[in-house]
Amino acid sequence: MKTDRTFSESDPCSNSPTYKYRGGLYVFLYICAIVLVALILNQDIHAAEIPSSEKPKVLKLAHNLHQTHPVHLAFIAMRDKLNTLSEGRLKMKVYPAGQMGSSTEILQMLQIGALDMAKGSASDLETFESSFSLFNLPFLFEDEQHFDAVLNGEVGRTVMQKTRALGFFCMTSYVAGYRSFYAKKPIHTPADLKGMKVRVQVSPMNLEMVRLMGGSATSMSFGEVYTALQQGVVDVAENNESSWVETRHIEVTPYFSETRHLSLPDFLTVSTQSWNRLSPQEQIWLQEAADYSARLQRENWHKSTDEAREKALASGGKMITVDREAFRQSVTPLYEQFRSKDDQRELLEQTLLLKRA
Ligand code: GCU
Repeated sequence: MKTDRTFSESDPCSNSPTYKYRGGLYVFLYICAIVLVALILNQDIHAAEIPSSEKPKVLKLAHNLHQTHPVHLAFIAMRDKLNTLSEGRLKMKVYPAGQMGSSTEILQMLQIGALDMAKGSASDLETFESSFSLFNLPFLFEDEQHFDAVLNGEVGRTVMQKTRALGFFCMTSYVAGYRSFYAKKPIHTPADLKGMKVRVQVSPMNLEMVRLMGGSATSMSFGEVYTALQQGVVDVAENNESSWVETRHIEVTPYFSETRHLSLPDFLTVSTQSWNRLSPQEQIWLQEAADYSARLQRENWHKSTDEAREKALASGGKMITVDREAFRQSVTPLYEQFRSKDDQRELLEQTLLLKRA
C-alpha cells in the first residue's frame, strides 16, 4: 500500500526535498546550540574574573507618582547620590507611576522581600500600623515648623520604626504639602460636599473624615483616580497641587477648593530583608543618600508647589477660597475617636505639645 510519507525511514539518503530541508535545519540548530554554549561559557569565565565584591548591587524602588512629581525627583537624586557615595558599587533603579503595583501592593512586596524599597504615604501605612493614623488627623499641624518638629522629633522617629516587625521600616520622610478638594465645580463649605462621591486613599481615617464633612467617601488607588473622575465614578478627589497638576487630574476637575485639610507626609520604606543583606558600609551609604534626598525635597517643595500653581492657572485651573473653619469644626469627633485608644492619645498629646506657644 502506498503511503503518504515525505521521506522513507528505511532510506536515510532519500532525495525528498522536505527531508533535505529538515536535514539542513538540524545542522543549523546544532551550530546555534554550540555557539550558545560557547557564549554562556565565555560569560561565566568573565564573571568568574570579576571579584564578586565588585559587582554592583542594585536595589529596586517602586512608587505610584508621575516622573515629574517632586517626590520622584527626590528618588532620582537619591539614586545618583548613592552611586557617587558607593563609587558605583550600590545602585538603585526607580520604578515610577505604579508600574510595580498600587501603594498597598508594593508595601506587601517589601514584606516578602520581593522589592527593596517603596514610597508609602501616611494613609497607605495606616492599614499596616495604626500609629500612622496620627498624620491622618485633619487640621493637626499649626504650621510647617510644627509639622517638622513632630515628624523629625521623637514622635516621628517612634512611628517610623513601628512596622519593623511587619518586615519593613521607614528610612526617611518627604513633605507633601497640604491636601485640598478638587472637583468639576467649586466647594466652599461642608454642605457643598453633600451627595458628592469623594475619592480618598486606602485609609479608615480618611473615610471617616469625609463622612463627617458630609460627603460620601470611597477608597481607591492613586492610579485609578483620573479615569474615575473623568467617568464620574467619583465627583471629588483631594490632594496637593503637584499631584493635581502633574497627574493631570486638573484636566477633568479644574476647581481646587483650598481646604488644606491634611498635611500627610510620604515615607521611604525599605524591606528589612533587603536592609539586612547590606553590609554596614552599604547601610550607611543608603541612609546617607536617603537623608540627602529628603533634605533636597524639603528645600524644593515650595518651589515645586508654586510651579504647580502657576501651571494650573495657566491651563484654566481655578483656586477657590473656602470656609476652613467650618471644615475644621466638622471633624472634631475624629479627635475624640482617636483619643479613645491609650497609645494614640499619648502620641496626640506629644504632638500637640510641640505646637509653638
Ligand atoms: C499624594 C502623595 C502620595 C499618595 C497620593 C494619593 O500625591 O504624595 O503618596 O499616594 O497623594 O492620593 O494616593
